[in-house]
Amino acid sequence: EADILKRLPLKGSKILITAGPTYEAIDPVRFIGNHSSGKMGYAIAAEAANLGAEVVLVSGPTHLKLKHNLVNLIHVTSAAEMFKVVQQYYSSADVVIAAAAVADYRPAEVATQKIKKKVDALTIQLEPTQDILAHLGKHKKNQYLVGFALETENELENAKGKITRKNLDLIVLNSLNDKGAGFKTDTNKVTFITRDGAVFPQELKEKELVAQDLLEFIQKALDV
Ligand code: CTP
Ligand code: CA
Repeated sequence: EADILKRLPLKGSKILITAGPTYEAIDPVRFIGNHSSGKMGYAIAAEAANLGAEVVLVSGPTHLKLKHNLVNLIHVTSAAEMFKVVQQYYSSADVVIAAAAVADYRPAEVATQKIKKKVDALTIQLEPTQDILAHLGKHKKNQYLVGFALETENELENAKGKITRKNLDLIVLNSLNDKGAGFKTDTNKVTFITRDGAVFPQELKEKELVAQDLLEFIQKALDV
């Protein structure tokens, strides 16, 4: 039995994960999006399920697949849709890992017909989307909240600012500076930063291994 417990240390835990980009419609055929592949979030979901956790994976548009009897994969398109689904699962989650690259802005109005080309410049008014993670932080009960941060300057300072602003327990700082780290790659160079300001730099490695490190870190923090 000890052996089984050792291999399924997250059995009984409920983990809510967001992954991928969001697409914000401009008109029926166009959108604002980003280059997030979803790989990091899917790798975390797969690893968490392998460790026995019950996973809800809320994913923006990606080509990735994940079939696991412990993973409930829910596809969404926009930030607003992601927010809605996340809210449904939040109260029962023990851990939330927000790996999605949620669009910060969306068109203030979505054209009902395809926008026709004209000679003049085109201006699209944008409005902020819901900050999903900040909302979760505000309404946190006992959930352990993990965010991701992608910074190109003042990395540590900006990442720590997000811990405070979003009321997080842990943030995973993603370094774009190093070769092979970030969007569209199979590797990431991350730094774990906890709420108390402790900084844990990690080696550049495959996203699957980053996922393992992250879940191990969370287990230690939760003492499970
Ligand atoms: N996030 C979210 N909802 C948003 C924007 C971000 O849930 N509308 C989450 C991301 O999933 C990530 C964390 O917040 O876990 C940080 O995202 P990031 O884009 O780095 O931070 P922002 O607060 O959007 O600030 P900025 O883009 O200006 O750096
Ligand atoms: Ca952002």
